[in-house]
Amino acid sequence: MNNHQNIRQIGINPNHWYVVARSTEVQSSPLGVTLWNHPIVLYRDDEGAVHALEDRCPHRQVKLSHGRVTGNLLECSYHGWQFESSGECGNVAYLAENQKLPNCKIRTYSVQEQDGFIWLFPGDAAQHQVTPMEIPEWEHLNYIATVSLINCNAHYSYLIENLMDMYHGHLHQNWQAWTDAVLEDIHEDTNRVDAHYQAQSYYKIDKIWSISQLFFPALRRLHPEPLDVSYVYPHWVSTLGQDFKIYCLLCPVSETATRAYLIHFTSLNAFWRLHKLPVKFRKFVKDSLFGSAQKLLDGLVRQDVQMIEEEQQAYLNNPENRNYELNRALGSVQRLIKTQANISNQPSD
Ligand code: FES
Ligand SMILES: [Fe+2]
Repeated sequence: MNNHQNIRQIGINPNHWYVVARSTEVQSSPLGVTLWNHPIVLYRDDEGAVHALEDRCPHRQVKLSHGRVTGNLLECSYHGWQFESSGECGNVAYLAENQKLPNCKIRTYSVQEQDGFIWLFPGDAAQHQVTPMEIPEWEHLNYIATVSLINCNAHYSYLIENLMDMYHGHLHQNWQAWTDAVLEDIHEDTNRVDAHYQAQSYYKIDKIWSISQLFFPALRRLHPEPLDVSYVYPHWVSTLGQDFKIYCLLCPVSETATRAYLIHFTSLNAFWRLHKLPVKFRKFVKDSLFGSAQKLLDGLVRQDVQMIEEEQQAYLNNPENRNYELNRALGSVQRLIKTQANISNQPSD
C-alpha cells in the first residue's frame, strides 16, 4: 500500500483483539458474527468455555451457526456432522463401518471472555503478545454501566473520526454531558492517538441526586473539565473529569459496515458512605442500576449513526468530493489507521 490508499476502503490490522459479542449473547445456541468479511461462529461448550470457528461446514459449505451444541461438539444443522473445538470433524452419525471420518479441518480463532465481552484475535498467532483492552470499571463496584449497540452501514474510519471529533457535540445539543470543547493537544504513536480537549461539563456526580442531571438538563451546572479521547487501536475510550468514562469497542464488519459497543459508566466514587456498605449490597445496587442511561445513550447513538451513514453514502455516490477539515485530531486518526493497516501488510519472517 502507499500513502494514497483510500482511508474509506482500508483494511484492519488483524493482530489485535476485536470485540465480536457481549458475553450474554453467547448462550447455549451458536451465534454467527462477522469480523472484516470473515464469518465466524461462536459457541459455549457444556463447561461454559467459548470457542470460535469459521462459520462454514466443510461438508457442503453451509453456516455452522444454524446448528446446535451437543456436549463439547458443534453440530451442523444439515446432515448433523459434529465438530471439535479444534475444527476437526469428531463424529458423523451415519458413518458406515468401512468409512473413516472425513479428514477436514476448519479454521479456529483465539477467543477470550473478559469484562463482559467476547474478544477475538483474527491475526497471526505468533503475534499474540498484545492483550485485550482492559475495562476495569466493568467489575468495579463504584461504576454503573450502560451498553448501547452501534450497528452502522459505514466504514469504521467514519465511526472513529466521529468519536475523536468533540466538535460534533453540536449534533447532540443538551443530550450530552459537555459543551464548548476546545482541542488543546494531540499525542500520536504507532498504537494510539490521544487528543486532549478542554470542555465545559454539565454534570458533577457528588451528591446522590446529581445522577438526575443525566435525565433533567435543567439541573446541570456548567464547570470546566478536561475531556480526553483516545483511539487505542482498534478501540476508543474517553474520560470527562472524574465522573464520566465511556468506551467504544469495535468489530469492523466490512468496508461498509461496522458494529460496535458503546459502554457508558456513571461513577459512584464520590459516595464514600456507600462504599462502607456490604459488598453484596453494593453489587446489588450496581446490577440493579445497570442500563440506567439506556435511553440517553441509544438516543446519542441514533444521531451519530445517521450522520456516519450519510457520510458513507455521500462517499459512495461521489468519491471524488473532498472534505474540508479543521480538527487536526482527524488527520492523526487517519495516519494511525494507515500505519496499522500497513503494519499488517508487511511480510512477516
Ligand atoms: S452441510 Fe454440514 S453436515 Fe452436511
Ligand atoms: Fe456523538
